[in-house]
Amino acid sequence: MLIDRFGRKHTSLRVSVTDRCNLRCTYCMPADTPDYADRDEVLTFEEIERVVRLAVLLGVDDVRLTGGEPLVRAELEKLVKVLHQIDGIRKLSLTTNGILLQRQLERLHAAGLRSVNVSLDALDEESFATVTRRPGMQRVLDGINAAVELGWKVKVNSIAMRDFTENQIVAFGRFARETGIPVRFIEFMPLDADGNWDSSAVLSGAKIVDLFSSKVRPLTPVEGRGSSPAMDYRFDDGVGTIGVIASVTQPFCETCDRFRLTADGQLRNCLFGEDSGDLKALLRSGGDDEAIVELMRRAVEMKRRGHGTDDLSFKRPSRPMYSIGG
Ligand code: GTP
Ligand code: 5AD
Ligand code: SF4
Repeated sequence: MLIDRFGRKHTSLRVSVTDRCNLRCTYCMPADTPDYADRDEVLTFEEIERVVRLAVLLGVDDVRLTGGEPLVRAELEKLVKVLHQIDGIRKLSLTTNGILLQRQLERLHAAGLRSVNVSLDALDEESFATVTRRPGMQRVLDGINAAVELGWKVKVNSIAMRDFTENQIVAFGRFARETGIPVRFIEFMPLDADGNWDSSAVLSGAKIVDLFSSKVRPLTPVEGRGSSPAMDYRFDDGVGTIGVIASVTQPFCETCDRFRLTADGQLRNCLFGEDSGDLKALLRSGGDDEAIVELMRRAVEMKRRGHGTDDLSFKRPSRPMYSIGG
């Protein structure tokens, strides 16, 4: 078991398969050319598989593939297939921007994937392009619909940003009610590449709940959050679920069960903070399984109590979201 100094068990591993992306979301990517890792710095599928197998032996049972945009990694279904076959993984899922989802869905399905979280920040093309700096909203919706039709478990993630998300509330209310797909709003975190974040740009989870309650219908809390970072609410007539991931105003660090592997092979025990173990170097210098296990143990052990974004001494992590992995 991977247990940190505060007794938190780490059973969830988020694996970034690439730092590249086909969108340029303002809250994540820079306006100009991103500083991508060289291709040979990125872990191979074999390297990822090895790490995941060892993590599973240490009690990890929940693996999420992220990026960058994971679907721009060539032949991702091959990785899905091997991970799907690992005994001990209870939950295998993908977090994607959805642009390439429809096109790759059949392949991913055949490889065993059944669960996806799709990022979608706006429900009109113009607002979508404002925040992602690229067109493509309809493609994302088509991907979502296709996944639902295949019987996948689908959730939508939407950024909660002041002066932007307020205008999307009515449309997302309708979407959540008509489709039954849970829509979760993630408070904007200080992980944007351009360093524009400040606390006034965060639309709080509490405010989101108020906005839905006043503009759509009253929301009531759903009990039983489990290890999910989201607090869920349902409209008072029982139709439609809205979640809030209040990472900034109500951090869930106390119950955090996750750690990360970046595309370039660094362990990361928290989104915030810094890299916490150079797995790539170990993998590529002939490190044995024991050494890899030891590095994972140490990475988790070193984890801080919380991200401390509300602390005056808080320093932004040196890597932006696309480079860490969502
Ligand atoms: P579910 O199992 O479906 O609940 O997945 P999830 O919510 O853990 O995964 P998803 O990739 O959809 O994550 C949603 C968002 O939660 C991410 O985009 C992050 O913004 C935020 N998040 C995920 N992990 C962490 C974390 O370790 N710390 C913080 N502060 N936020 C996180
Ligand atoms: N703050 C909050 N969420 C972010 N994401 C990317 N950057 C940020 C940020 N600065 C989210 C995306 C996507 C997930 C992978 O991470 O919206 O849902
Ligand atoms: Fe790409 Fe996701 Fe970052 Fe948007 S948030 S630019 S989709 S990695």
